[in-house]
Amino acid sequence: MRLIHSIAELRESLAGERESAFVPTMGNLHAGHVGLARIAARHGRPVVASIFVNPLQFGAGEDFARYPRTLHADCEKLAAVGTDIVFAPDLDEMYAEPQTFTVRPPLADELCGAHRPGHFEGVATVVLKLFNMVQPRYAVFGKKDYQQLFILKGMVRQFNLPIVMLEAETERAADGLALSSRNGYLSAAERAEAPRLYRLLRAAAERVGAGARDFAGIEAEATQALARHGWAVDYVAVRSRASLLPPRPDEHELVILAAARLGATRLIDNIEC
Ligand code: PAJ
Repeated sequence: MRLIHSIAELRESLAGERESAFVPTMGNLHAGHVGLARIAARHGRPVVASIFVNPLQFGAGEDFARYPRTLHADCEKLAAVGTDIVFAPDLDEMYAEPQTFTVRPPLADELCGAHRPGHFEGVATVVLKLFNMVQPRYAVFGKKDYQQLFILKGMVRQFNLPIVMLEAETERAADGLALSSRNGYLSAAERAEAPRLYRLLRAAAERVGAGARDFAGIEAEATQALARHGWAVDYVAVRSRASLLPPRPDEHELVILAAARLGATRLIDNIEC
C-alpha cells in the first residue's frame, strides 16, 4: 500500500486507471470505515482511501482542533483489507489558495445543517475536490451520515459526475451504538447512556412501521425521553427517504433521523422505516 501526500503524485499513480474505488474519510478509522474499504475492494481497483480532516466542514467552536488524528494506525487497518493507496494531503495541499468557489447543496440548512451552518457546503466542496483528484469509478459512503449521503448522491447526479455511488449500512457496537470517531470523546457514564439514541429510534420506527402517522408526537416523545436522560437534542425528525423533507401523508418510505449531544459530544443516528 502506498501513502501519498501530494495531489501530483496521486494523479501520477492513478494515471490511466478507470475502475478505481474511493473511500473518503477523516481518519481515526473504526470498523465502519473498514467496511467501506471492503465494499470498495469488491467493486473496483485500485482502492483509494483518503484521510483528511476538513476544516471547511467544522463550525467555530466545533472539534476540528481536537479531532483525533491517527494516521499510522489508520494505514494499518486499510492495508489489512486490501487498500492500494492512502491519500493524506495536508491543509496547504488541499487548500493551496482560499476556497472561494464552494458547492452550496440543497438541504444545507435542514436537519444537521440547521445546527451546523456551513457544514454541508464544506462537505460537498471537499468531496467534489477529492472526486476531481481521484477521479474514481466508484465511491463508497456510509448511511450513518444519512443527510451527507443524500446530498452527495444529488451532487453526483446533478453535476453528472461519472461516479457510481455505493452505500454501506451503519456498523454498530453490540449495544446498538453507531460506531463513530466521536464516540472516543464519551466518558464511561456517557458511553453507557449513548445506546439510548438508537433504542429510541428503533422504538419510533416500530410505531411508524405499524402504521402510526402522528410524526410530530413520535418526534416529541423521543426528544423528551432523551432530554430526561441528560441529552441536549438538536432534532428527532421523521422524513421522506425520497426528499429528506417532511413526508406527505401518502409516503411510506421513511427515515427517522436524530442528532443530540451528550455532554460535549454530538451524536447522530438514523433508521429507515
Ligand atoms: P468520516 O466521518 O470519517 O466518515 C467517512 C465515511 O465513513 C462516511 O461515508 C461515513 O458515513 C462512514 N461511516 C462513519 N461511521 C460509520 C459507521 N458506523 N458505519 C458505516 N459507515 C460509517 O463523513 C466524513 O468523514 C466526511 O464528511 C467526508 C465525507 C470524508 C468529507 O470530509
